[in-house]
Amino acid sequence: MAHETEKQNAAAAAMEFVEDGMTIGLGTGSTAKYFVELLADEIADGLIVRCIETSNQTRDLAHSLGVPLIPFEQVDRIHLTVDGADEAGPGGVLIKGGGAALLREKIIANASDHMVVIADPTKDVQSIGAFPLPVEVTPFGYTITAKKVHDALVAAGVERPRVELRKAPRSTELLVTDGGNYILDCHCGLIPDPPKAAAFLSGTPGVVEHGLFIGIARTVIFGTETGARIIEY
Ligand code: A5P
Repeated sequence: MAHETEKQNAAAAAMEFVEDGMTIGLGTGSTAKYFVELLADEIADGLIVRCIETSNQTRDLAHSLGVPLIPFEQVDRIHLTVDGADEAGPGGVLIKGGGAALLREKIIANASDHMVVIADPTKDVQSIGAFPLPVEVTPFGYTITAKKVHDALVAAGVERPRVELRKAPRSTELLVTDGGNYILDCHCGLIPDPPKAAAFLSGTPGVVEHGLFIGIARTVIFGTETGARIIEY
């Protein structure tokens, strides 16, 4: 297991933002898992919160730990969302979606008063794009959409992007997201102008959502071996 102590310490630092009575968005991935576990411990000790999950995977984890979930339709306010990231760069710009949950993650983070990102130090980057950017697309017309996504990235200044359809783990089948869509992993190397790339991708028919999170995270916590480094935006 890689960087587990750093992930755990980032999750522990995020617990400082939790208050009794909050509605909390639960992220997806190996770092967010530690947060859900810590939250479950506090709930067992009397903390009263209600939560909303960003994926079926996190829903199952929350159920198994006794963390109370409510349907999104019953949520009028989300006070806090704690989630991982694949890259976190200057200004709190993120790449997310390595776990294929980017659509629900973005809906919930964007609807939250406060998004806290928890990550190990390998996610701390000076420029965005080394991690392949996940883009969720509708199955209808996905081959054409993939070409248009490539063109949108080129128009946004990415040099020679390579767009790959994501396969399901240990399978030759295409991965299908919780929302019933496909994921294009866009190997960019560098995304020189993330807001431009985000705008061009959002303007591409067939794109449901992309993994660039810009202006959403307010706090980024990088766990260390002994504690955490907290950056506020
Ligand atoms: C899930 O779709 C992603 O956005 C995750 O938040 C991201 O991949 C980070 O996951 P890890 O904490 O497992 O690195």
